[in-house]
Amino acid sequence: MSSLNPVEPFDLIIFGGTGDLAMRKLLPAIYRRDEAGQLPDPSRIIGIARAPMEVSEFQQRLYSALNKYLGADPDETVWRRFSSRLSYLDLDVTDKTAQNWRGLHTLLEADANPVRAAYLSVSPRIYGAIASGLSANNLVTDDMRLVLEKPIGIDQDSANAINEAVGRYFNENQIFRIDHYLGKETVQNLLALRFGNAIFEPLWRREVIDHVQITVAEELGVGNRVEFYEHIGALKDMVQNHLLQLVCLVAMEPPVSLDVDAVRSEKIKVLKALKPISGADVLTQTVRGQYRAGAVDGVAVDGYEDELTEASNTETYVALKLEIENWRWSGTPFYLRTGKRLPEKRSEIVIRFKPVPHSIFSGLQPNGLRISLQPDEGVKLTTMVKEPGPGGFELEAKDLDLSFAEAFGGATYPDAYERLIIEVLRGNPTLFMHRDEVAWAWRFIDNITEGWQNEGQKVEKYFAGSWGPHGASNLLDRDGRAWQADL
Ligand code: BG6
Repeated sequence: MSSLNPVEPFDLIIFGGTGDLAMRKLLPAIYRRDEAGQLPDPSRIIGIARAPMEVSEFQQRLYSALNKYLGADPDETVWRRFSSRLSYLDLDVTDKTAQNWRGLHTLLEADANPVRAAYLSVSPRIYGAIASGLSANNLVTDDMRLVLEKPIGIDQDSANAINEAVGRYFNENQIFRIDHYLGKETVQNLLALRFGNAIFEPLWRREVIDHVQITVAEELGVGNRVEFYEHIGALKDMVQNHLLQLVCLVAMEPPVSLDVDAVRSEKIKVLKALKPISGADVLTQTVRGQYRAGAVDGVAVDGYEDELTEASNTETYVALKLEIENWRWSGTPFYLRTGKRLPEKRSEIVIRFKPVPHSIFSGLQPNGLRISLQPDEGVKLTTMVKEPGPGGFELEAKDLDLSFAEAFGGATYPDAYERLIIEVLRGNPTLFMHRDEVAWAWRFIDNITEGWQNEGQKVEKYFAGSWGPHGASNLLDRDGRAWQADL
């Protein structure tokens, strides 16, 4: 995974090349890597979408997108180099005929670069059609990489169908399923923290840890993705992938090496050990919320339903209590919550330790390890210390505070997509999901969705700018616990 491993010249085809993700994240990420001098010549980037367009227009759109999402006009020299790598082709991917694919065929076969990758930033419904079109037109090379964006399906069956469909033309080791949280610096640091330090492992177990909290809070609302979101909701959009991946990294056993199979198989064991939440249990172990109009950062914002023409029972917030049935974690609950239109963007994992067995002081609080994933990456260990002075033993909770920004001299980290795209080009699948991970995660989620349907569980409204519905506080309150103070 060293950043020093060179990237070989590549041909990267982006299906959905003019779409929101490509313009907002993928192409800016590749531009950034070019800016950092990491893209070898004569690498090429081929944008594909349905609408006919001159390459100059594609370049123009991208120039504006870079300005918008990187916050400034691109550097002139870098832009000249980067834009010269770009091509654009219109293609109806559902039509397999050679005539339809001729443009791509001609482009790829002339001066083919050693590495070929196709990034599918389109609806998962057409993943199979694209894989089949590439294959029928002899464009799949032996070590070509196929990158699949989430969501892989909307349930276990549809995910299996997608994996079968692409698996007909690509081997599992050629398929890179993206969960961009795995490309985040601090998410990778979880592995470093747990397995690069001897002090945590003896504490990492049910006897010492009272419970774990995982929060992924967003300020943003659903915005212009409302149509997509109506069919998905927070459980499938965030928990099935990002939050469950975080659960895996916190809960997994130490892998024997950093080898991709070693890490994946430990993660899969965690997913298999999740106690299903099904039937009426959803009513006590899950909370669905939906934001109503309110104010975020002092600015008035609409409610979720205001963007729709009719009432909706889609959750923009979800909280749940999950249990892992194995020796390490049995009896130590994991509380998860994620939502849109919360007061701030903040992702963090809090490990809450048990109280001291016998207290000789008053006012003790249990220790907590707070791992901040974004925006301020760092680790804090809440520790009880004596207040200075002659006034007797007054104890106060203070943090041992490791801020990554301070520790690494204000270094800025590349966006998760920058790292992930480079790993695709290098052919390193460690940071990507195996099809079994996707399937096991869906299995857990499908039980909940089925429970919600059968039990008619409704969303509970919360004000935009608040920390979510009351039900989410009650979820912990019932167990005599509370969400770590919402800072
Ligand atoms: C995406 C979800 O996967 O992750 C979005 O589809 C969400 O709804 C986004 O906003 C959050 O990512 P990040 O990196 O901003 O935490």
